[in-house]
Amino acid sequence: MWNTFKFLTFWVVIFAISVHFKPSECISHAVSDGDWLQYKLTYGKTYATTQADALARYYYSYNLKLIKKHNQNYDRKLTTFTLKANQFTDMRLTQFNALFPPAVYPTMTFDFPLNTVQNPPATFNPFTDQGLVSEVEDQGILCNSGWAYSAAKSIEILQQYQGTLIPLSAQNLIDCSGRSTACRTQVPQTGFDYLTMYDQVIYSTTDYPNNITISEQNMCIIPPAPITGTKLSAYSVITDGDDATMLRYVGNNYPVVIEFNPTSFEFMHYADGVFQQPRTSTGSHFMVVLGYEEDATSGLNTWLVQNSFGKTWGKGGRISIRRDAVTPLAKHAIFPAELA
Ligand SMILES: *[C@@H]1O[C@H](CO)[C@@H](O)[C@H](O)[C@H]1NC(C)=O
Repeated sequence: MWNTFKFLTFWVVIFAISVHFKPSECISHAVSDGDWLQYKLTYGKTYATTQADALARYYYSYNLKLIKKHNQNYDRKLTTFTLKANQFTDMRLTQFNALFPPAVYPTMTFDFPLNTVQNPPATFNPFTDQGLVSEVEDQGILCNSGWAYSAAKSIEILQQYQGTLIPLSAQNLIDCSGRSTACRTQVPQTGFDYLTMYDQVIYSTTDYPNNITISEQNMCIIPPAPITGTKLSAYSVITDGDDATMLRYVGNNYPVVIEFNPTSFEFMHYADGVFQQPRTSTGSHFMVVLGYEEDATSGLNTWLVQNSFGKTWGKGGRISIRRDAVTPLAKHAIFPAELA
């Protein structure tokens, strides 16, 4: 009798699970065939099976509804930023979150003391104030490499502020300094340590192309001469929560890399406006703080931050994050301090 009960319970559970996870059969698509095809074309999406295609279409349609709801709240002035569909919209939030496991830090740091800088300007827009042309990168979704993309970008921008623009390779850092965790839990400091302590060059993207089609680091390859690249001789760190110091350096032409928790539906689909961090799960991502301003629409103070999710995410690849004393942005903040 008891065994029969267990047997029945087992099959009832299996049945419930199979019904729950078969969207292709039990969900009517809110997204038309044409719209779904257009989404796939826009983002170059292909799915291995029709089942996978149907599942992706289901999440796309589900996410579109949440995006619409959020934007209605924006229209009612209940939030300060908007959302939009992008390359992540065919994913569940939990899948997106899983791309960004919590970072693991080295136990030692070899940072240099903060050098002296002038008082920063009241606002700092790197594009209008410094003529920055920093290209937005796309790290893809196969390798969690924000640490390398942000580290490379910060050095590239520092060098541009100093007069030379050489697009620098994140792949170089992934392959050569990423150790065994380059696509999982690595941090920008490891890239800076590789360059400063071992006197290595970070190569240009021409010499060492980025490659987002691989999910693990490649072999570290030294490109044949003549090479173009950059050397870093020092980096510095900023105490967690010390936004005043971060602002001081950003305002004096030092792009600062921060750790940021990306695990929210809102960050996943951020479009425009002043982002305020909602409830998150745990996770780590890294971005480059470029400037600080006052938002014209809301009057709120903001940080201007560059991401590496391509230009289809956010404001052409960038995000404005609310700048206030309650939720400081400086977390494991680190920046290239001196080029060799
Ligand atoms: C990326 O790596 C793959 C696998 O090693 C290779 O086949 C492909 O040509 C590479 N793409 C680029 C742009 O280097």
